[in-house]
Formats: sequence, structure tokens, C-alpha cells
Amino acid sequence: MLAVAVLAAGKGTRMRSAHPKVLQPLAGATLVDWVLRSCEPLDPHRRLLVVGHQAERVQQQVQRRHQHMEFVLQQPQRGTGHGVQQLLQPLGDFTGTLLVLNGDVPLLRSATLRQLVEHHHRSGSAVTILTARLEEPQGYGRVFCDDRQRVRAVVEDRDCTEEQRRNRLINAGVYCFHWPALAAVLPHLKADNQQGELYLTDAVGLLEPATQLTVADGTEIGGVNDRGQLAACEQVVQQRLRQQWLAAGVSFLDPASCSLSAGTRFGRDVVVEPQTHFRGSNSIGDGCRIGPGALIEDSQLEADVEVTFSVVRQARLARGCAVGPFAHLRPGAVLGEHCKVGNFVEVKNSRLGADVKAGHLSYLGDARLGRGVNVGAGTITANFDGTGKHPTTIGEGSSIGANAVLVAPVTLGRDVTVAAGSTITKDVADDALAVARCRQVEKEAWHKPAAPYRSATTPNRDPADPFSQGQDR
Ligand code: UD1
Ligand code: CA
Repeated sequence: MLAVAVLAAGKGTRMRSAHPKVLQPLAGATLVDWVLRSCEPLDPHRRLLVVGHQAERVQQQVQRRHQHMEFVLQQPQRGTGHGVQQLLQPLGDFTGTLLVLNGDVPLLRSATLRQLVEHHHRSGSAVTILTARLEEPQGYGRVFCDDRQRVRAVVEDRDCTEEQRRNRLINAGVYCFHWPALAAVLPHLKADNQQGELYLTDAVGLLEPATQLTVADGTEIGGVNDRGQLAACEQVVQQRLRQQWLAAGVSFLDPASCSLSAGTRFGRDVVVEPQTHFRGSNSIGDGCRIGPGALIEDSQLEADVEVTFSVVRQARLARGCAVGPFAHLRPGAVLGEHCKVGNFVEVKNSRLGADVKAGHLSYLGDARLGRGVNVGAGTITANFDGTGKHPTTIGEGSSIGANAVLVAPVTLGRDVTVAAGSTITKDVADDALAVARCRQVEKEAWHKPAAPYRSATTPNRDPADPFSQGQDR
């Protein structure tokens, strides 16, 4: 029987942040999300999270994404050993294996964790720790073994002698314990170290036999203590995600210029052009072409959608839509099949039926447009009256002339035509033409003959003065 405990109570002083370290973002998820996710394929019997610094916040965030978590409070935080001591009560007479992970090691592969657990069970050890041999071991605890490869001690970087510091075998912060054995030594940890904390690593030294498993790929165990390490982890995750999707049939024209999130899913034959970024959870259908220069966040795109130089957030686009260049789809934008939303068009909380065209310079907010509506350049739904937001409805087949203002709440029927430049404040019936602007007035012979001293061709303008408007009349 397997229980997993993740240590997430620390403050993360070296991040210099107002936020708890384990909630720092990495490719659209948090550090602790990545750690919890890496354990999921092991199908643990129990999942415990030790929280302390900003415990409520951490708990709330984690609960949103992970089910069946047990939260254990560590207050105050007196070190990783003290964190695990808090499990004595909730785990009680549990007799199985406890996998302990630091909440700041987000790059672990599930396969590696599985190997560790199997190695631990095969060896029958009291503890098996995950280690790595690093070129630059600074900051990590060093692992010392005897000639039979049994772990004798783990010494923290800050507690090492110069000699000990040269050891490149480091503790990854991932441990498999036989819980009853660990429970027996936990009360005996001492804080006689440079930080005056209770170290979980000291428990390893107290257990017998203690074995270790060295990972082949040292990048996997990268811990995040500062912003530099966070940035390095982001690079690794981005690289992994791009490789995963390249292998699954997505083309990237310039992979290094794009970023992905763990929650983004792609269909086949998607082309991602340079400078394109995906955040949160997205599903991108077969044959979509995204970018160059696009940001897609928490959105669903069906097949064959094109998005060029545009921002799409919390939106849903049916198949064959074309968006951009320079369009902004905001939360609640829902586009039917084959819609076109073009340059400088903003759509918010609006439902567009199939084949709607809004090609240029428009704002559509809190609106519902039927199939085939044509939105002329410069059309605005004036949805805000200074206190509240109001809806605009436009029936199918309607055509809105350029530069129209539709003052909400307002409803236009089917096949309505709105004259260009109209300000529509009243509902319009099916099939009607609505004209809401001054009739054009024409004054004959308004242009007076030239004054005698002016040139005949530009009678009223001073050719030397570009701002000259001509003579007032
Ligand atoms: C720890 C290990 C070190 C190892 C490294 C791997 C110890 C003493 N040292 O060092 O050997 O090489 O991880 O990355 O364990 N935490 C708590 N409660 C606390 C203190 C910390 O829950 O009281 C949590 C933190 O939130 C963090 C994790 O434990 O997720 C590790 O703590 P951190 O202070 O980062 O340990 P390191 O100094 O990196
Ligand atoms: Ca750490």
C-alpha cells in the first residue's frame, strides 16, 4: 500500500515573493501541481499535502485541481523533518510505503518515481532515496554511501566541510520510506545544524538499511529555490511539451519562440507559427493554423480555425473560423462555424451565429448575432449606459452599415438593414431598413467664385498654409 506526502509548507524565502513558493507558476500550472501530477500514475492509496506558510491559500488552490487530498498543517515550519513529523498522527498505524516529495521538484517523471518505489520494494530497505550526480551540486544535500552502496548520511550543503562539498552525488528530495520504520525514528530528530531545523535527511541516516537510486537524467530532479531555477525549469518543461506535441503531429515553425501550457491539447496537423503562446487549458482542433503572434488562453477551437496576430481568451470558436489580424476575443466570445472576425474587432460575451462577418474596427459586447449577419466597419454595440451592461440582439441575415452605433438594450429582427452611420436606439422589425441619421442636405453653388487676387484653381485656400480651411462663409 502506497501513501504519498508532499512537503509544501515552506515560505520560499529565496524567491523574494509575496506568494508561497509551491504556488509559483510553471507552464500554466503551479510547482506543487506538477509534483502532485507526477505521482498520480502511481495511483496512491492516500495523498497528503503538508501545508503551513499561507496554508489556506495553498489548500484552496490545490483543492481546485486535485481530488482526495488530505491536508496536514505544519505550524510553525521547523524544517522538512518537522514537516514529516506532522504525519505521525494522520498516518497512525499505516503499515505501507510512504513516498515523500519536496513540493519544489516539478520536473520528476512518473516513470522515475515508479522505478524508485519498485527499487525500494525489491531491496526491502527501510528507506530508498532518489539521487543524482550533478556537475554543479551547489545547494543540494550531499549523499554519502559506504562501499556496499548503502547510504550512510545526507549532509546539507551549508553543513558540509570543503571536502564533503566536492561530493557530486546529491539528494533529490524524494524518498521512499517503510512508514513504521520512519515513524519510529521521527521523534529522535535533532536541530543541531546550521539552520537549527529538523531535517528529514537526518532520518535517512538513522534508518537501516538505507539505499539509493541514481537518476540517469539529472535535469529531472531540479529543485526550485530561486527565480533563476524557476526560469530554468520553465525552459525544460517548455522543451518537453513541444517535443511531446511534435511527436503527436503538431508542426511548430519556430518552436523555441512559442510557449505551451500543460493543459493545452492539440488535434492533428495543427500548425503553430512563430511567437504563439498557449496558456491555461485549451483544445485546438485538427488542421488549425495558429499565429504568427497569437495568445490563446482557456479556449476551445474546433477544426480548421485560423488565428493570426490576435488574442483569444475564454472563447469558443467553431470549425473554419478566421480571426485576425489584430482581433481580440474576450471571455464569453462564442463564434459559430466559418465566422470571420477581422482587424481591430473586439468581441466580448457575445454569441455569433455561423457565417457572421465582422471584418473591421468593431466592438461587439453582450450581443447575440444570428447566422450570416454582416457587421459593417466601425459598428459598435453600445452596451454600457454608465451603470449597467445591456444586450443587443441582431436577427439572422441582417446587415449593419458602416459606423453604426447600436445602443443597448436593442433588438433587430431578421434581414434588417441598418443604414451606415446610424445610431439605433429603438428595436427594428424583420426585413425593415432603419435609418437613424440626418438626411443629407445639399446647398447649390456653395463654392463662391475666386477672389480676384487668388489663383483660379484654389480660390479659398492659401497654398502656403497646409492648415488653411478656406474662407468662412
Ligand atoms: C532539501 C533537502 C536537500 C535536498 C533538496 C532537494 C532537507 C533538509 N534538505 O533542501 O537535502 O538536496 O531539498 O531539492 O530536507 N518544507 C516544509 N516545511 C518546512 C520546510 C520546508 O514543508 O518546515 C517544504 C518546502 O515547502 C519545500 C520542501 O519542503 O517544498 C523543501 O524545502 P527547502 O527549504 O526548499 O529544502 P532545500 O534547502 O532545498
Ligand atoms: Ca528546495
